[in-house]
Formats: sequence, structure tokens, C-alpha cells
Amino acid sequence: MRLLQQLSAKSYSTFALDTQLAELVELESLVELLAYQPDVTPLLLGEGSNSIFLTDQSQTVLRYLAKSRTVLSEDDQNVQLHIEAGDNWHQLVSWTVAQGWWGLENLSLIPGSVGAAPVQNIGAYGAELADCCDYVDFFHWQSREVQRLSKSDCGFAYRDSIFKTVLAGQGVIVAVGLTLKKQSQPKLGYKGLEHLNPQSSVTEVAQAVIAVRQSKLPDPAILPNCGSFFKNPVINHTVFDAIQHSYPAMPFYPQADGLVKLAAGWLIEQVGLKGQRIGDVGCYEKQALVLVNFGQGTATELLQMIALIQQKVAAEFAVQLEPEVRLLGQ
Ligand code: EPU
Repeated sequence: MRLLQQLSAKSYSTFALDTQLAELVELESLVELLAYQPDVTPLLLGEGSNSIFLTDQSQTVLRYLAKSRTVLSEDDQNVQLHIEAGDNWHQLVSWTVAQGWWGLENLSLIPGSVGAAPVQNIGAYGAELADCCDYVDFFHWQSREVQRLSKSDCGFAYRDSIFKTVLAGQGVIVAVGLTLKKQSQPKLGYKGLEHLNPQSSVTEVAQAVIAVRQSKLPDPAILPNCGSFFKNPVINHTVFDAIQHSYPAMPFYPQADGLVKLAAGWLIEQVGLKGQRIGDVGCYEKQALVLVNFGQGTATELLQMIALIQQKVAAEFAVQLEPEVRLLGQ
């Protein structure tokens, strides 16, 4: 166990606001977690790629860093993996791609830890974690036991899961079980991947995904950001028909139950905010859904930018954008 006190949050959130953490505890193994008995439930943090500390944080922040990978079983078709939560997501993806296993390649280069992946059911380029997740092992603070939740227990939906709702703050994701495929299964529906073909290797697909991401999304190590800042709004057909009447070229994605998902980045661009900035917080010039910190950005500037985007989009489209990023200290 490692204990750090009075430190800047800058290194613990890829948006890099300079607020303070009172205390950070890092645990390296399940044995350490089982022995850790805090008086007050700590705030769980992965690699900070989807969390922003708006104010100084007095609650202890906990990072769970255990990172083993176990092959549970393997046959001609499938491989089943048990991955501890502290592993880095992209390093895991790179390892599975190098083995020639299919399933995670479209999720290449997503920042963050394995343990954070189920929380918002990470997704990109036509794939999401739920597609290959078998189970999530969850340590409950109250019972102090690890429970295995099946995929259906996890309540996976678009950028959502039980870990954001019923189980929020209740414990620690300690491991994720995955089934990957050995046979070629490329998912090439996304428009940046159309130069690939069904014979493409898993490495080629992963490389193409990485190239698309690098062309559109800023590298948090160079320009601090938390990826997509808002969820893509899902609306009913009546609202959709009204918007489409005025904007026939608008991109949209039909969902189950007659609902329609819109592209929040497109909506933000239409209201003229792409590339705009308030102080050192900006709406990224190549992808309006990403907010960036040019260096000295503050929580006040960020909150002003969020409010401006929400107001302008609501005024033009009657659609409410909701942050996808976890805003702490509001
Ligand atoms: N668009 C614009 N202007 C913009 C941005 C986008 O017109 O500034 C249009 C695009 O041309 C396209 C549509 O909006 O027609 C969708 O854009 P894009 O394909 O870039 O995807 P997105 O909906 O903005 C989502 C995920 C991303 C994921 C990509 C690719 C959410 C909130 N975001 O973004 O995930 O990488 O699809 O699958 O669902 C993340 O969650 O942090 C993230 C980056």
C-alpha cells in the first residue's frame, strides 16, 4: 500500500486541472484491498481519463493497481481471460492483438484502466466492452466480499452500467472476464475503416483504428482532455422528425424501441462552438465533442464552457446534452 498526501490532482486526471487531493491510497493486490479498512468510503479512481476534480478533494482517493492477466481456458474457437482491474486498457488490447485474438481491436488506444472499462461500457468504432465481457468481479465495501456479476447483471447499455447506478460508490471492480475469438471477425462498419476487408488481420484493424483516433482525437499527454465530453443524446422519433425537417443532412443512428441517437459533436459544431475557447478551456477544433485544457484551464472556465454548449444546443435543437465525463466536486 502506498499513501500520498496533499498533492496536485493534475497527474490524476487527463484533463489536468490544478486542484488538490488531500489523500491518495494505492493498493497493489487483492490481499492489500482485503486488508484495507477505511473509516470513510474512499473515492475510486482509475487512470483519471474520464474524471475531473473540479474542486479540492477531501475524500480519500483510492487507486486499485493489481494487474495480472490469466488465460482461463482456450480452444480452437475462443480464449477466456481473467484480467485484473489495474491493467492499462490499451496495453491489454495490444497484447490480445499480438496474440491474434479478435474482440478488442476496435477499442484500441482508449485511455484508462481495465477496471474503468465496464463502468461506462467503453465503446468505439462499432464495438463496446459488453460484446466480449463475460463477468465483472466486484468487491463490496459493506460485505467485504468479492461478488461475480454476469454480463446481464452488469446492466450494460450505451455508456452505462450498474456500476454508475446501483453500485456507484459501493465497492471496487477488481477484475474483468473476457471471451475473445480466434477466428477472423472484423467489425468494419465504421466509415473510417472501409478500406479494410474481411481478410484483414486483427493487427491491421487495430492499426486502422489507432490511425483514425490519432487523426481526430487529441493525445491527452500533449493536450489534456477526457475524450468525448458529452454522451450522444438518444431522443424519441417525434423530436427527431422535427430536427431532421430543418437539418436533413444531420447524421443519426437508429436505436431499439424507435429511439434515435444523434451525434453530439455535430450538434455542437452546428451552433458554432467548434474551435471556440473560454480562457484556457476549448472545444477541440477537429472534434467538437472533445473539450481540451490548453494548460492553465480552470474549473470555472470548464463549467462556463459546459453551460454555453448545453444552452446553445438546447436553444437550437431542444436537446439536452449530458456530460459523459465524471465531474467530481460539483
Ligand atoms: N461530427 C461533426 N463535427 C464534429 C464531430 C463529429 O460533424 O465536430 C459528426 C461526424 O462527422 C460524424 C458524427 O458526428 O458524422 C459522429 O462523429 P464521430 O464518428 O467522430 O463519433 P462521436 O459520436 O463524436 C463516438 C464516441 C467516441 C468514439 C467514436 C467512434 C460517444 C460519446 N463518443 O463519438 O468515444 O471514439 O464515437 O466510435 O459515444 C469517448 O467516449 O471518449 C470517445 C472518444
